[in-house]
Amino acid sequence: MNEQRKVEAVTAKHLDDEVAVTYGTEAFLSADYARAEKERLWPKVWQMAGRMEDIPHVGDYFTYDICDDSIIIVRTAPDTIKAFYNVCAHRGRQLIDVPAGQNGARGNAVNFTCAFHGWRYDLDGKNSFILDRDDWHGALNADCTSLTPVRVDTWGGFIYIDQRAEEAESLTDYLGDAGRILAHFEFDKMRYKWRQWCIYPANWKTAIEAFMEPYHTTATHWQLTKYAEFYAYSKQYGMHSVSGFDQRKSSEATAQGGSVSRVGKGKDPRVSTYELARENYTTINYSASTDTLINAAARLKDELPETASVAEVMAHWMASAKADDAARGVAWPDIPTAVMAEAGLAWTLFPNQNILQGVTFALGYRARPYGDDPDKCIFETYALERYPEGDEPATAWVHAEPTEANWGLVLSQDFANMKWVHKGMKSRGFRGALPNPHQEQKIINAHRNLARFMGRGAPEILKP
Ligand code: FES
Ligand SMILES: [Fe+2]
Repeated sequence: MNEQRKVEAVTAKHLDDEVAVTYGTEAFLSADYARAEKERLWPKVWQMAGRMEDIPHVGDYFTYDICDDSIIIVRTAPDTIKAFYNVCAHRGRQLIDVPAGQNGARGNAVNFTCAFHGWRYDLDGKNSFILDRDDWHGALNADCTSLTPVRVDTWGGFIYIDQRAEEAESLTDYLGDAGRILAHFEFDKMRYKWRQWCIYPANWKTAIEAFMEPYHTTATHWQLTKYAEFYAYSKQYGMHSVSGFDQRKSSEATAQGGSVSRVGKGKDPRVSTYELARENYTTINYSASTDTLINAAARLKDELPETASVAEVMAHWMASAKADDAARGVAWPDIPTAVMAEAGLAWTLFPNQNILQGVTFALGYRARPYGDDPDKCIFETYALERYPEGDEPATAWVHAEPTEANWGLVLSQDFANMKWVHKGMKSRGFRGALPNPHQEQKIINAHRNLARFMGRGAPEILKP
């Protein structure tokens, strides 16, 4: 690749050096690469399978489907979650059907019964019934007739699975600093506000990468530039990475803050902060903020004098929203200022989980392969929010075609790029990606990680 460019291999010493790199399109386009991911990536890495709130009661289960594997995640006791491959030990019928057009199967069971010959399994995966067992002349034992377990663990209310053996690193070690920093946001206390999914016509990486960097905001979500600047930094934390809003060196604008809850640009920060927050919230499908924050922002003009500084506006906004939430029974986690700064705007937890976080909300994205087709993916977005106890809405996965009516203006603008990125990369005229070393490190890091798993396709340093 890149005959016209001088390149050299990226090594560990370059991490976070903001070196310019390039990489080819094989990871996005090659059917052979997609097949190799099924062996070299997905069975070898912790990945988010769902939320604990998906299975609140004993016996509740859902299936997590990844490549050719389907995995049953089941609550076996009030405080125990287990995972098993969704396959019958007898002759391999998938135990729970996952109809096409459905984002996994879900339900409640006291046991799992195979529809083919009726073998039965209890919630712990142990076989509890075999028709005509004596026909095997005593050869069957618990080991060969039970469901095959999968490692499972939880963090922040998310359930993760890992198909490797117990000796592989723990989830805590895998999440590392990302887990330590984001734990402060207490995602486990949040609940789904809405969740939507679709089959999108692009590789899963093309899809998730569209949500990894704010560099695209100025051109793609151009309407937002009326309210704020969208310059960003990005940074690697081992396998994972973060981005946050930054200040252009040439900018004369007042510092706006690194997270989504920040001051807007404009002469009167009382007004511009509200306008930015409201515009974001309403056009990102009522996510990435909360009613409480928007209402508190709307009052800034009445509650503060015209002379209020940016710092005073931010402090008052946060304090009054916190008090409003407290009055309705929503406690804010106490997040140290240094952690807030380090947490920035949004994270990518390798391989395919994006989280844009706030004190009482989060916006999540996940993309997975769709069958063996490198040109398609299963794409999901969900909003989480912290609710007063008992006020959590009941939600389910809603299949939603990628239109503005279904997803709001901002996400529909992202959808309008993704398929054309995927198509464009197929062009003979495309020489490989040139990700922005300051603003798109998350993507560079993802490709570096991916190349390690796959044994090919590592980013190479661009020489002038
Ligand atoms: S394949 Fe499940 S009982 Fe036969
Ligand atoms: Fe976007």
